[in-house]
Amino acid sequence: MEPVSTSKVAIVGAGSVGATLAYATLIQGLAREVALYDIDAAKVRAEVLDLRQGLQFMPTATVEGSDDIAVCAGADLIAVTAGAKQQPGQSRLDLAASTTGMLRRLMPGLVEVAPEAIIVMVTNPVDVITYAAQQLTGLPAERLFGSGTVLDSSRLRGLIATRCDVAVQNVHAYIVGEHGDSELPLWSTATVGAVPVTELTTAEERDAMAHEVVNAAYEIIRGKGATNYAIGVAASRVIEAVLRDERRVLPVSTRIDELHGITDVCLSMPTIVGVEGAGRRLDVPLSDAELTGLRASADSIRETARGLGF
Ligand code: 2OP
Repeated sequence: MEPVSTSKVAIVGAGSVGATLAYATLIQGLAREVALYDIDAAKVRAEVLDLRQGLQFMPTATVEGSDDIAVCAGADLIAVTAGAKQQPGQSRLDLAASTTGMLRRLMPGLVEVAPEAIIVMVTNPVDVITYAAQQLTGLPAERLFGSGTVLDSSRLRGLIATRCDVAVQNVHAYIVGEHGDSELPLWSTATVGAVPVTELTTAEERDAMAHEVVNAAYEIIRGKGATNYAIGVAASRVIEAVLRDERRVLPVSTRIDELHGITDVCLSMPTIVGVEGAGRRLDVPLSDAELTGLRASADSIRETARGLGF
């Protein structure tokens, strides 16, 4: 059994992602205190009441919420989920302008009330948002990073697992680059057990899986308006790696100062996540096509960030 947590997790945004993340954090016993902050006082109160009324059935914890940022005070980890909602047909990058405006007000306040916190950005477009939040706070790259392609990699692993009829836990495969349309799978290093995925699947099957991953969120948004469960547990996986100092390899979005000629952008690559935040990035061997795809993805993210003045 895991030791009882003494940590405080603050979640900014009580929308479907924030509320699901709070729920995932509570049922997994990742924090002793969960705080929800949202500018909509009635919504945050309702979510807190709903979560609180289930506490008897969860590992010991408290839940509080407010429209006052002070509720985040002293948090060990802050997850930022607040932002405009992706509408059907809208890409994650389309959301950037309205959300960066909100960040200019939010981020300095968070650092003021929780100066020691590790900050995990979940809001889309997460790579641009992570870059902007880092510029606005000046926090070191390991202390502020994004949930990145942890979810996309989970989607890819699920598809490979189904196709190869094997447990998803035995699939190692990463989606890297943008959490969005320019993301790409690293097929050259993907394995099932120790067997390369390239030996277990055809190129056509791999193309179909990559296409399905890129379009996964769009299909869900068309059907129910938003995604929340998978991103909720993916983000809680990141929180767990930090608070339990697991040193998990996760494709989180971090600021890249130099990687194969890629500079000054946030994107996802497999990175060791532990109590210090997003630590060392693994030096993953890339095929020529993967490197070309990664550079194109970096250019797309950077272009959006520059267009927003970051
Ligand atoms: C997702 O991929 C929309 O970024 C969200 O589920």
